[in-house]
Amino acid sequence: MEQQPNQPSPENIMKIGTGFWASKILLTAVNFKLFTMLAEKKMMKAKDVKDILELKCTDRNVYDFLDTLTVFGFLKREGILDTAIYSNTVDSDTFLDTNKPSYIGGILEMMNNRLYTFWGNLGEGLLTGLPQNETKRSEDFFGLIYQDPEKLKEFTGAMSGIQMGNFMAFAQKFDFTKYKTLIDVGGSAGLLSIMVAKHNPHMRCTSFDLPPVEPIASATIQQFGLADRVKVASGDFFTMPIPSADVVVMGNILHDWDEENKIALIRKAYDALPSDGAFVAIEGIIDDERKQNVFGMMMSLNMLIETGTGFDYTFADFNRWANIVGFKSTSIIPLAGPSSAAIAYK
Ligand SMILES: C[S@@+](CC[C@H](N)C(=O)[O-])C[C@H]1O[C@@H](n2cnc3c(N)ncnc32)[C@H](O)[C@@H]1O
Repeated sequence: MEQQPNQPSPENIMKIGTGFWASKILLTAVNFKLFTMLAEKKMMKAKDVKDILELKCTDRNVYDFLDTLTVFGFLKREGILDTAIYSNTVDSDTFLDTNKPSYIGGILEMMNNRLYTFWGNLGEGLLTGLPQNETKRSEDFFGLIYQDPEKLKEFTGAMSGIQMGNFMAFAQKFDFTKYKTLIDVGGSAGLLSIMVAKHNPHMRCTSFDLPPVEPIASATIQQFGLADRVKVASGDFFTMPIPSADVVVMGNILHDWDEENKIALIRKAYDALPSDGAFVAIEGIIDDERKQNVFGMMMSLNMLIETGTGFDYTFADFNRWANIVGFKSTSIIPLAGPSSAAIAYK
């Protein structure tokens, strides 16, 4: 029977309500390195997947797992059940094969290993206003995560995965002609600096972050062969001034903190800039009406889970803070998907 306009339908309720099933199927496939295996072997039968991954479940469970991934568009399938042969789609082959530099699965690994469990406590987060991650045991989120080399690697990999498309778009869409230097504050593995240097041969960039991150950023810069124009600097952006540069970038930094600290960081960026410099925030900037960018609003709730007091914000919020600090004007450039670069000109 055809659905009449304005007739109630449970479809969307059920789709969103069972959304964690879909999410967990993809996250599990990424954690099993299924797409990396398929990129190497080109095509596989369900039985081979089962044997290599040493799955003790039934054959039927494996068909259900692989066929669901096929319907989602992450695998291709010829044949059915025991005659089925699976291979990667173009998207999964490009973005979910760990052996390719275009791999973005780091963020999905972290979703699986950390955030999936922590988001189970969203209700407690809303009831208490307190973070629901490792900081239940410690105040210092980054200090705690970075003590463990595996978690440090996972976290920086996750940051690179979630921002890769945005950094590539920013490096190509922003007009760098009148600038020579850039500092990426909280630059993690250095990907933003690398992308800017790669696409703008006249730019010299510095990736600035806490000391434990330095070896990872240095290794990434070496891999891209850009050590002559991309440097690494270490320090704490709350206790020291930000080193000077023509462009100061903060990618997913402001959303970690409350409003007072956000303004303090924007002021530090202002002080680091020459008179015609630019400050750039690259985040899932929420639309001013708060009706469209659902990713930005969910990311903001993710900040409740991760930091307690952090939140994502609209371009109107950014304008207000830039104005308080003394910037002359602002603009916004849409990047990949739901993210944008909000720019403030000194
Ligand atoms: C959410 S991550 C964002 C990383 C990266 N900019 C991006 O867009 O993916 C926040 C970054 O800020 C860094 N950070 C946190 N507190 C810091 C501090 N006090 N001084 C310098 N860096 C800090 C963290 O190490 C981490 O790399």
